[in-house]
Amino acid sequence: MCGIVGYIGEKEKKHIILQGLKELEYRGYDSAGLAVLKDHKIVHFKAVGKLENLKEKTKNFQSKGFGIAIGHTRWATHGKPTELNAHPHFGEFSYIIHNGIIENFQELKKELTSKGYNFLSQTDSEVIVHLFEENLKNNEPFEAFKKTIQALKGAYAILLISKADEEKIFFAKNLVPLIVGKNDDDEIFFSSSDAPLIGLAKEVIYLNDFDLGYAKKGEIKLLNNSKSKALNYKKLSTSKLSAQKDGYRFFMEKEIYEQSAVTSETLMGRVFKDNIELENINDDFFDGICEIKICACGTSYHAALASSYLFERVSKIKCTVEIASEFRYKDPLLQNDTLFIVISQSGETADTLQALKMAKNAGLKTLAVCNVDNSSIVRISDEILLTRAGMEKGVASTKAFTTQLAVLWMLSLKLGKIKGSLTKQTIEKEIQALLKVPTVLKVDDKIHEKIRRLSKRYLHGHGFFFIGRDLFFPLALEGALKLKEISYLHAEGYPAGEMKHGPIALADSELFTIALMPKTLLYDKVKSNVEELSARDATILALSPLEFDIADDFIKTKGYEHPMLEFFEMSVIIQLLALEISIRLGNDVDMPRNLAKSVTVE
Ligand code: F6R
Repeated sequence: MCGIVGYIGEKEKKHIILQGLKELEYRGYDSAGLAVLKDHKIVHFKAVGKLENLKEKTKNFQSKGFGIAIGHTRWATHGKPTELNAHPHFGEFSYIIHNGIIENFQELKKELTSKGYNFLSQTDSEVIVHLFEENLKNNEPFEAFKKTIQALKGAYAILLISKADEEKIFFAKNLVPLIVGKNDDDEIFFSSSDAPLIGLAKEVIYLNDFDLGYAKKGEIKLLNNSKSKALNYKKLSTSKLSAQKDGYRFFMEKEIYEQSAVTSETLMGRVFKDNIELENINDDFFDGICEIKICACGTSYHAALASSYLFERVSKIKCTVEIASEFRYKDPLLQNDTLFIVISQSGETADTLQALKMAKNAGLKTLAVCNVDNSSIVRISDEILLTRAGMEKGVASTKAFTTQLAVLWMLSLKLGKIKGSLTKQTIEKEIQALLKVPTVLKVDDKIHEKIRRLSKRYLHGHGFFFIGRDLFFPLALEGALKLKEISYLHAEGYPAGEMKHGPIALADSELFTIALMPKTLLYDKVKSNVEELSARDATILALSPLEFDIADDFIKTKGYEHPMLEFFEMSVIIQLLALEISIRLGNDVDMPRNLAKSVTVE
């Protein structure tokens, strides 16, 4: 969590840092801060809340001319979102910003406090700067920095500036992302992701775990585990187009509308009349695979759950799905005839990344379904399938989810073909359906308008139940997650057939049930489950192609002949429902409270 940026150069530093932080605000926005070292002086600013507040505070501050600067946008882990807890943290003459968690900060803090260091914040990060200044007593600055990093346990991307060496930014990375970039003017940039660097840096280095070093004008020094390391530059893209709202009210809305176009991209070059070609993944990668295990978090976990129905039903391969944060600590039994798949939009989710590392260490073949090229998960996996959704800025994931499912559907067909579980005719039929996904995902203006109108009746109540069966149970989970994260209303996703085993006790007119009733999967069964709820006075909003008299509200879907197409169509509807309810409630849809886009802490 948290976003960090750094800059060495002549330009207006405040401007570069604030612009960079704006791009990273999705990573956390509890507070923000920056520090500039120039003309032998360090000036810093901090503000609670969104970046605008920091901008306001720095409006009269100018920082043109050669110097160095660091900036941070925070998502609180240790310590409340207050100004004192905002980064940068400082000692007598040094400043740091940190993304991650220092697990041994209590021990370090105790030791430093006993030596007379005064802590202003409740954060784990502040120990880093005091420890650096302590180490400086007997070491030159880079040596002191190295010693400091060696003492830390946990996850970190750190930038440190100090009057002890006014030309350098010292940096270190473990488990959370950090990128360093440069251009032809000898300017140096740091960032947690590519986005802030586009248009500024020409080439970047994606730092690896245990990399540390320093940068000064025209020079980057990089070590890994104390040994000098070559600088492995990659070219950076120059397009910022994808980062704008294009007239939509929120990024989430724009991203819902983009789903049709981006899934076309996802399918492009991969789907043929009777075959699926998945880039460089050769068929023999799947040799000896008898089982699939998928690990993910949040929305990506819901995509995983939905795909498990496909792997078992279509590919005829046993498939289990685990929440990454649970998997990590359960001492799982892993066998090397299992293909280990991780799914992640960001490619940086700490729990998913750790699960992947565990599987790799156990010798399993690994495959990542991911949206961010060059992310940590992509770099570690044996094989990669990029979802090609483009940058997703809304905190509530939408196009990542549907593109993940497009990829997973393709993979299930590929595996079905390799394992001989699908006939040629079935593959051709499935592919015909798959190719319709971009059309199905086109937002129907009439449906959007209907949802907008309907949403006014769903702004209160004591709870929402999204219910569905089979493939539509994971979609029910996703519908509930979307609603709760941006509307702050309590919602649960439940298997429709399970309601009678307990939750039906909650039913009354203030219990809103969103019933997913596709015609192609268990329609009659779901219908009976919904009737049971209606008989107990629950308010029903039904999504179905088949008229359903007892529903209080009804959204008529198109009635596609394939369950996956009905699934994609209903995905858009549940996303729009959450969006419109949230807008009516006056919430900031793209930046819901307490959340961050990329969860790089466990
Ligand atoms: C919900 C949402 C989160 C993410 C989760 C995993 O809308 O976005 O639940 O799905 O934090 O993130 P990734 O997919 O980046 O690993």
